[in-house]
Amino acid sequence: MSHDPSLLESLARQVGTPFWVYDAKVLRARLRQVKALTSPPLVQARFAMKACPATAVLKEMLAEDIWIDAVSGNEVLRALRAGYPKGKDPAKICFTADVFRDNALEVVLDNDILPNIGSPNMIQQLADAGYRGPISVRLNPGFGHGHVNACDTGGPSSKHGVWFEEAQSIAKEASKHGMQIVMIHAHIGSGPQFTELHDNLSRLAADFAAIAPTLPDLRSVSLGGGIPHDYRNRDAAFPLEMLRDLFQQAQKDLSAAAGREIHVEIEPGRFYVAPSGTLVARVHDVKATQTNAKGEGVTFAMIDAGFVDLVRPAMYGSWHTIEVVGREGEPTEPIVVAGPLCESGDVFTRDDAELLQPRALPRPQPGDLMTLHDGGAYGYAMASNYNSIGRAPQLWLEEDGSVRMISRRETIDEVVDLETDEALALD
Ligand SMILES: Cc1ncc(COP(=O)(O)O)c(C=O)c1O
Repeated sequence: MSHDPSLLESLARQVGTPFWVYDAKVLRARLRQVKALTSPPLVQARFAMKACPATAVLKEMLAEDIWIDAVSGNEVLRALRAGYPKGKDPAKICFTADVFRDNALEVVLDNDILPNIGSPNMIQQLADAGYRGPISVRLNPGFGHGHVNACDTGGPSSKHGVWFEEAQSIAKEASKHGMQIVMIHAHIGSGPQFTELHDNLSRLAADFAAIAPTLPDLRSVSLGGGIPHDYRNRDAAFPLEMLRDLFQQAQKDLSAAAGREIHVEIEPGRFYVAPSGTLVARVHDVKATQTNAKGEGVTFAMIDAGFVDLVRPAMYGSWHTIEVVGREGEPTEPIVVAGPLCESGDVFTRDDAELLQPRALPRPQPGDLMTLHDGGAYGYAMASNYNSIGRAPQLWLEEDGSVRMISRRETIDEVVDLETDEALALD
């Protein structure tokens, strides 16, 4: 969906550019779609909050009783601050990671959070910290794929989880330390095709059903996230009812295999939030290079948003629909959209091989606004302040048309706030 140009201009005048705007109506429609796939408590949805951890988003999830998958101590703390309860029964917050970094171990223990361990030695680390009790184990099922080649979510070259065949030895090790495996988990990625996702999820559910009888404390199985969003064909609808049927069948099959009720969990991230988030930037110039022996000349639209705001195109050549606000229907020409950063890779129009790929766009004029769509997932969440550029503000467009700012622009004081000059003891 495109936003009203006069609304965007009015917001730009108030908060400057670039800025993010989340459309509550679009977000809530996606929440409802995911809820329709579940049947709590038998099939329960979580939100992989890494995709968009803004408190306003977390509160929407909480209101729908969508639980949380957190991947750092601070994500757990953010979920708690947004109002999620502590505790493991039910474990409304689950901590999934391959490494306990910083405060993670302490936060998990202090707040009675279910740890979903992704490396064998995490059991020892929990034991050393005095932990006894339930755990979850993230398994590498040996197959699966993300939305691009760089996202390897299962197989020999994936860093995530414990190799599937090690499940028994992990269970033994856990039991030696007074821990019980109450959940097994895998995230096989989003396909990248829907049919591939469906096949992979069915295979995963069958593999889990095969080991369920050997895990006496197993209560639930998480089939991970990965419901795709079609970035190129934004209005495309996937046959989600196939997933609802698959989850329900998996819950029955797992329960039959284990001989008791086993719950199924899912934890999408991008599907909930991707289409609700739009990055709005100002065009500052349009300039061109000329054809020479090295290659063909290119027209660049220079905008004030860069990969500090939305890194997905620079990181893995992801596609985001781009519009020149107010110029819909005008003749198009090949344009490369580039940002302000001192990095030649600060370009939003790339192909799968991450090379420049001019986009057919109406020729923008300096002063025009440009919108980069479907950035609600892994957009602001991956923002940085490289080049000492402060992170852009995030705005929230309510269904009644009102707008509020949910985070403001990062200032120079905040950019340098962590700098210090402390002598450290050398012993
Ligand atoms: C463990 C886990 N769960 C869920 C997700 C969410 O994936 P998606 O946003 O594609 O649904 C991820 C993504 O990296 C993940 O690693």
